[in-house]
Amino acid sequence: MPIKKWTENEIAPINFRQIILPRPAGRLDAGILLQINVPTEAKRLLIVDDSSVIREGLAKQLGHLPIDISLARDGQEALDMIAEGDFDLVITDVDMPRVTGIELCRRLKANRHTCHLPVVILSTLDDNEDIEQGFLVGAAAYLSKSEARQVITETIERVLRKASLKRNQIVLVVDDSPTIRAVIDRGLREAGFAVITAGNGRQALELMRRQRPAMILSDINMPEMDGLEFCRMIHADRLLADIPFVAMSTNRERPLMRRMLQCGADAYLTKPFNTDELVITIEKLLSDRLLLAIKEKERLESERSLMLASITSLGTALEARDPYTRGHSEAVARITTRLAAAMNMAAGDLETIQLGGMLHDIGKIGVTDHILLKPGKLTDSEYDAIKRHPSIGGEILRPVPSLAPILPIVIHHHERFDGRGYPDGLKGERIPLWARLTAIADTYHALTSDRPYRRGMAHDRAMEIVMEVRGTQLCPDCVDLFLAHPPHPPTP
Ligand SMILES: [Fe+2]
Repeated sequence: MPIKKWTENEIAPINFRQIILPRPAGRLDAGILLQINVPTEAKRLLIVDDSSVIREGLAKQLGHLPIDISLARDGQEALDMIAEGDFDLVITDVDMPRVTGIELCRRLKANRHTCHLPVVILSTLDDNEDIEQGFLVGAAAYLSKSEARQVITETIERVLRKASLKRNQIVLVVDDSPTIRAVIDRGLREAGFAVITAGNGRQALELMRRQRPAMILSDINMPEMDGLEFCRMIHADRLLADIPFVAMSTNRERPLMRRMLQCGADAYLTKPFNTDELVITIEKLLSDRLLLAIKEKERLESERSLMLASITSLGTALEARDPYTRGHSEAVARITTRLAAAMNMAAGDLETIQLGGMLHDIGKIGVTDHILLKPGKLTDSEYDAIKRHPSIGGEILRPVPSLAPILPIVIHHHERFDGRGYPDGLKGERIPLWARLTAIADTYHALTSDRPYRRGMAHDRAMEIVMEVRGTQLCPDCVDLFLAHPPHPPTP
């Protein structure tokens, strides 16, 4: 059946249908979730009004919000200021000399550098025609000055929240009609989204190898790879399956709609639809998804904290068995974190190395008391039992996915740089860096601590021994870092 291709004029509001399905939480990817950050930087607001009383009154009213406020006397001054600096929101009067508020909004939306900037129109004119005109030029909200006092704060927060949701969100538009691609591209860019386009499913998959979109908007009837096949391919790929997928088609047959939904589509739009409605659908899907993602992230974090609290209690219980190692894990964590900080490591890496230090000997839980606490020399088989503690530690922590980054520290902190360590006899830089750093802190703290069979050494002597085993037992580069940032000598 030949497919009708819609022209730009035909895509006006005529018909709109959508089905939005809730997405099961299980499809969210934990790795992606943990990268979600709520933006906290101060927002920049530009107030445009030819009346100084209104400009300054509004600035005063909004003074309690965490935003930087600038003032412009008319649309032209606002355009000049926006060309000079970054703003997150514009609130503008309508009736002003030189450039009016409506013209300001139109020009901002027509410029690809500023089309994402939300504009709130604040006017004394509030009949339907004025409001319609405001939205036609792309305003995010239209308030009458009489109602502004009550709703302005709420409106600003809502518009900023929406804008930050859209920022850097890439929507992939897949359609074989250049006209439809261009219309949707323009509409979504004006609404603040970044857009990439492809002519069919195969091209879209190719594009997605380089850029991961936040949302896919795909036609169904296309050459080479149609929407059904494209949707199947996306949902068969574990890394892509969680991207919301909106199908678009002129075909209103229910079986086709059902097949798309069975393939994993989240929403179905019947063409023609207008871009305002499309934007609302996309915003709704993205905001549902973001909320779900934030909740899932919170759940993962609380699960991780609970798990960590339990494991740390186990570690404390372990140290309580042996008065000579009490405080050892904490001291190792302190020293390694200091070294990692000296390397300018990111906050996430610092947390990993600190936790690794705290839990590096957790596997000693699996070593019996009579071996672990034996004051005299160990037999070969007893020493073999002690040498199993890094692997036992790995087995204890492995079931907790969020602790995966610290496993290399726990498992390899007894490897030696010359390859004569355990459990795997790894050599040189094949030993994970965090494990090499932990080995130094472990050695130094063990030397300076009292043991049943000897007193703890003085700081200087322990430093000498660390230097003596530089390049044999311990990584030379890590020893150099340790010498450059020595720990505070233990208090007697
Ligand atoms: Fe150990």
